[in-house]
Amino acid sequence: MHQSLTEKIPKQPVLSIASFRKQENASVECVLDAGEVQYVNRGSLALALALQHMKLAPNDEVLIPAYHCVAMVEPVLWNGGNPRFYRIHEDTSLDMSDLESRVNQFSRAMIAPHYFGFHQNMEVIRQFCDRHQLVLIEDCAHAFFGSYAGRPLGYYGDYAIGSAWKFFPIDEGACLVSSKRDLSDACTTHGGLFSEFKSFSNTLEYALQYDRLGAVNPALRGLMRVKDRLWSVIKPETVQKPIHDLDSSAAGGMTGFDGSRVRISCSKWSRWVIGAVSRMRIVNNRRENYKKLLAGLGDLPGCRPLFGILPEEVVPHVFPLVMDDPEVVFPRLKRIGVPVIRFGEYLWGGMEKGLCHVSEDYSRRIFQFPCHQDLNDAELEWMIARIRELMLAVSSTSLTEGSAA
Ligand SMILES: Cc1ncc(COP(=O)(O)O)c(C=O)c1O
Repeated sequence: MHQSLTEKIPKQPVLSIASFRKQENASVECVLDAGEVQYVNRGSLALALALQHMKLAPNDEVLIPAYHCVAMVEPVLWNGGNPRFYRIHEDTSLDMSDLESRVNQFSRAMIAPHYFGFHQNMEVIRQFCDRHQLVLIEDCAHAFFGSYAGRPLGYYGDYAIGSAWKFFPIDEGACLVSSKRDLSDACTTHGGLFSEFKSFSNTLEYALQYDRLGAVNPALRGLMRVKDRLWSVIKPETVQKPIHDLDSSAAGGMTGFDGSRVRISCSKWSRWVIGAVSRMRIVNNRRENYKKLLAGLGDLPGCRPLFGILPEEVVPHVFPLVMDDPEVVFPRLKRIGVPVIRFGEYLWGGMEKGLCHVSEDYSRRIFQFPCHQDLNDAELEWMIARIRELMLAVSSTSLTEGSAA
């Protein structure tokens, strides 16, 4: 097993028979329907491939939001470019007047993310990029599904990237998409048999950890033990660390970005899963789970939902809560095994301090909780109950301390 069960419920989608239940995929659009597609292992590699394809030159600048993760900066540096950071507003929309002020003769591209699945105003952003002749990279890492003005997210950018492993029950897999450019010279090639096997076995191991494979669990456990023994003898160096093992908090935000993999495709296994599972189930369950989290956690002291309304066209990646007292709450959540995702916990060290107070504040204070399609009712109720208890306990302690002072 590749992870001790410190997290009592799965942070990411988990493969099960239910993943394949319904097949109404034609009616559910996603970033793959936005244009031509090339598959890679990770969203950061898709960003690197986009920048390579547009021929970013040394010292060209790429506009990156001040609220970001390191995985959005590494591909720019790897391509020889310079990141130039811009502000966002409290509702996570991009600060267009700040963007205007940061464009200069070196600006070549901008990265525009749909934070947590909630889309940006793509019309305004598209016009801005056209006016300044900037290449627009629509970052759909949090928004594999969802639409804007009747088109799938990813359609408006010169390029779009998607992070399939955040939405599908797989361990690796991402895509570069373009509705505007010919990607035939951005081809990626198969990563080989080891990568294929690792991708397959990581997916099954994660499902086994959370007992999702029913009657086949015991037999598979035996097989996995044999695999572990073989693997320790062969020790292939060429495959990526399992995504489910990565703890960006522990790694100071570093992602293990490896630019040498930019032309390597995700596994055939991941591609098969992406095509075979029910998209309708992903969309419906995520939206339903988000609403349950909103109902269960929307009124708590000491925190507030970042988005109190879930628009029709949004398919959330996670449920973001803005904490009043993150340093007190985070270790306690970890101790009781509630999974917390912390996008933007580590901002790029080279970004000027004070450039964007909202981003610095959100980097500390926004915690994201899973709302993925594979959480069952008991898991969701357990998570809501634990967060409620904790927030109520923290608020009563601070009230007591306040009145004693
Ligand atoms: C907004 C955003 N863009 C890009 C990435 C990179 O995606 P990946 O983790 O698949 O490399 C991430 C990673 O979390 C992200 O949050």
